Amino acid sequence: MLNILTVVGARPQFVKAAVFSRFIRTNLYAEKIRETIVHTGQHYDENMSDIFFREMEIPTPNVNLCIGSGTHGATTGAMLSGIESTILERKPDVVLVYGDTNSTLAGALAASKLHVPVVHVEAGLRSYMMVMPEEQNRRLTDHLASWLFCPTDTAVVNLEKEGIFNNGITNPSADNKAVVQCGDIMYEASLYYQPKALDQSESSLQDLPDHFALLTLHRAENTDDYKRLSTIIQALNKFDSIEFVFPIHPRTKKILSQYSLEFKSHIHMIDPVGYFEMLALENKCSFVVTDSGGVQKEAYFFKKPCITLRDTTEWRELVEHGWNTLVGADETTIVDTLKAMPKYGDSVPLYGDGMTAKKIADVLLSWQK
Ligand code: UD1
Ligand code: UDP
Repeated sequence: MLNILTVVGARPQFVKAAVFSRFIRTNLYAEKIRETIVHTGQHYDENMSDIFFREMEIPTPNVNLCIGSGTHGATTGAMLSGIESTILERKPDVVLVYGDTNSTLAGALAASKLHVPVVHVEAGLRSYMMVMPEEQNRRLTDHLASWLFCPTDTAVVNLEKEGIFNNGITNPSADNKAVVQCGDIMYEASLYYQPKALDQSESSLQDLPDHFALLTLHRAENTDDYKRLSTIIQALNKFDSIEFVFPIHPRTKKILSQYSLEFKSHIHMIDPVGYFEMLALENKCSFVVTDSGGVQKEAYFFKKPCITLRDTTEWRELVEHGWNTLVGADETTIVDTLKAMPKYGDSVPLYGDGMTAKKIADVLLSWQK
């Protein structure tokens, strides 16, 4: 029996964990893999956390560290200590972390200090902007991990540039890593949950305009920089030839009120929505405007063009194939790009075959402990 301790904490990790966790509870895998879920409590509002566990039937976490919000150091430090105690108590064979949040780094660091091998799902992504907290977290996690599950070929090449190569999957360590291209776990999530999500969300979409753009905006590089944030808002306020639906992240809501910044009435702010309603919005919208990592990809899954309010993206293939346009926080570029929307990209499969969870489970089970 392989004992996995999974660390989650933030919204995108619930989506990713839902897929793998469901897969290993089914089929013959349930007899071979046991999972303990640790929720750091980084996200804690009902519609930032509980709704994801309920809708996607993720098992209730075995441990909730209830760390909550605070500075990077204080929260990551508290997570590190809490995860360390949990590892010492539960004695897992491996610790699995997803993505690039502070919960990811805390999980990887706690495990690696205790010599418990780290599994990183969504490895190898790079924005090449070390100032971003996500880039710090993902780089450090990749270097600590024994298994690196990459969503794309680009991610594998990014690791090679840092001297990280595949040294075989049967006996990996932090020094001799297993690097596996397994496709994107969020693609599998969208394929699996889409039918249920679209069915269940039909009634909640009735009041929406026929044509709208979906907006999300929460990344620190935008929200914590007054000039960037106010320029983005100014550009979006100017462009009133389409209505926007904007599920607003609590971080952004707090900062808008601190700065007294306001969106005009064609931008409809709503509370953050659950994953099912989000998929339904992505399915119904005309195009997407975002600074989210996950939402850039989901736009493409629904064949919706995307404008990304960032200077770089770790999902470069979306830009290369014409699905995503990077506009940074430049007012003229944002408005001109909005005027040219929608702009469709090439019809190419970019994120695998939707069997990512199986590939990860099979590789982990081939490990000769
Ligand atoms: C985190 C991740 C980011 C990811 C995002 C997903 C880090 C460094 N950043 O950013 O990569 O894109 O999650 O959504 O890990 N808040 C609430 N209720 C909640 C959660 C947050 O009110 O349930 C508010 C608090 O004021 C908090 C702020 O949002 O201080 C920021 O939360 P935090 O978890 O620190 O970072 P995110 O911006 O959510
Ligand atoms: N999401 C959601 N409700 C929302 C906004 C986003 O369910 O109101 C989902 C979205 O569909 C995607 C994930 O959350 O699956 C992305 O998380 P987020 O944008 O917060 O973080 P990022 O991907 O930028 O790290």
